[in-house]
Amino acid sequence: MSYLLNEKYIVHVVDIIFNDEFVQYEDNNNFFFHKLDITDSQAINSLSKNFIDEMVNLDVLINNAAINPDINDLSNNFSRLEDFPLSSWEKELDVGLKGAFLLSKFFGPIISKSDDGVILNVSSDLGIISPDQRLYEVEGLDESEQPVKPITYSVIKSGLIGLTKYLSTYWRPNVRSVTICPGGIENNQDDEFKLKVSNLIPVGRLANVNEICSVVEFLISKKASYINGATISVDGGRVIW
Ligand SMILES: NC(=O)c1ccc[n+]([C@@H]2O[C@H](COP(=O)([O-])OP(=O)(O)OC[C@H]3O[C@@H](n4cnc5c(N)ncnc54)[C@H](O)[C@@H]3O)[C@@H](O)[C@H]2O)c1
Repeated sequence: MSYLLNEKYIVHVVDIIFNDEFVQYEDNNNFFFHKLDITDSQAINSLSKNFIDEMVNLDVLINNAAINPDINDLSNNFSRLEDFPLSSWEKELDVGLKGAFLLSKFFGPIISKSDDGVILNVSSDLGIISPDQRLYEVEGLDESEQPVKPITYSVIKSGLIGLTKYLSTYWRPNVRSVTICPGGIENNQDDEFKLKVSNLIPVGRLANVNEICSVVEFLISKKASYINGATISVDGGRVIW
């Protein structure tokens, strides 16, 4: 966000909650926050109509929202496929895929008026490879009770790759679309987990968040004007092993 504001982008954030992260930008005249549920078609449609009515141009859409379940929260662990509730499937796909679809549907036509339009979808290394469920194993639990990365994560993140491919030709030549597939990002995870993940990554460690942001910055910039429809891994080589 800092980079975008420094580069004189005017940034509109759509989120269901006003995160601590946004507080620092509150007084910036180029930062606009829209408290919206991205699964609410009417709300997204009406926001896009405001943009049209007020003749606000839009060059870039970043589909980043997700519900990231805490796999190690055993008090609420229905992550295994056999127990996975339909309600969780619907809720998570709603945010991860329907939200990206609705934002693309209603804001894509505005972006298509730009000469340098970009829709960037935030997927994951797990959009490309299967989760290694051994990473989430808890000692002492039976196989049938072991927490796992839920099926929804894989389905959403590979679905976003398909969304990108579709969008990369739809509003041609005005709108490029790209998927970024980050690997695990350093975020105070416990040391044992970090060691286990790092052993699966040729670069030998998790990503620093700036290593992901710098690639996003590049992909939405004119410097990436010939990258379209691509799936860009930023995972220290995790998917190559
Ligand atoms: N953190 C990682 O290690 C990692 C790795 C690979 C991919 N990713 C992906 O990167 C993206 C960002 O990750 P993060 O860790 O910053 O996630 P995060 O949970 O911090 O951010 C997701 C945001 O989506 C918002 N959101 C959820 N439901 C919404 C709704 N209905 N309407 C509007 N907004 C809603 C949340 O409020 C939150 O601000 C996600 O798509 C995630 O899957 C993260």
